[in-house]
Amino acid sequence: MATLTGLNKTKTAVFISGKGSNLKSLIKFSKIKDSPISIELIISSNLKAKGLKYGKIFKIKKKVFDFKNKNISENRLISTLKKNEIKMIFLAGFMKILSKNFIKRFKGKILNIHPSLLPKYKGLNTHRRALDNNEKYSGCTVHFVNSKLDSGKIILQKKVKVLKNETEETLAKKILVEEHKLYPKAILKIFNL
Ligand code: GAR
Repeated sequence: MATLTGLNKTKTAVFISGKGSNLKSLIKFSKIKDSPISIELIISSNLKAKGLKYGKIFKIKKKVFDFKNKNISENRLISTLKKNEIKMIFLAGFMKILSKNFIKRFKGKILNIHPSLLPKYKGLNTHRRALDNNEKYSGCTVHFVNSKLDSGKIILQKKVKVLKNETEETLAKKILVEEHKLYPKAILKIFNL
């Protein structure tokens, strides 16, 4: 396989709102020699997002858009993405809903990771709802983003067993470990690698 240098990698941005553990795993993945992507920008909807620290640690540009006025935030966001020649977006714990217009602009170029086996448990509180329904399995999904919440084409899923005495916290932790492996695998898959 030809070696990908910083020059011919696809420029991407990762959108976060919180801890950023998926962001960290994507940054590590982007630095592998044969990774098809470079991460040029971290976008956060939250000034206090812990994940913003990875901008400093890995020397990646970061920007905060509060989305209080979605239209204004998205217009500024689009200019930032253009300026940085971003070709692909990875949502990683990004808790804002992007407008139909924004999604249309980046059609087929936005991926999301969700902590359930979609189409089950779209939206919030996935682990609580899976436990309340006595699910034997839960997991995570990487999918393309379309205009309907958590409903775009599925790229990859990973199933985990729900154990007896499982709590929201233990399940979330176990699934997060799988998320960190699944997102890079899904990216390789869409690049046919
Ligand atoms: C992850 O579990 C991710 O799947 C979930 O938020 C967490 C973010 O963790 N995303 C959603 O629920 C999106 N609807 P992280 O900030 O440590 O990556």
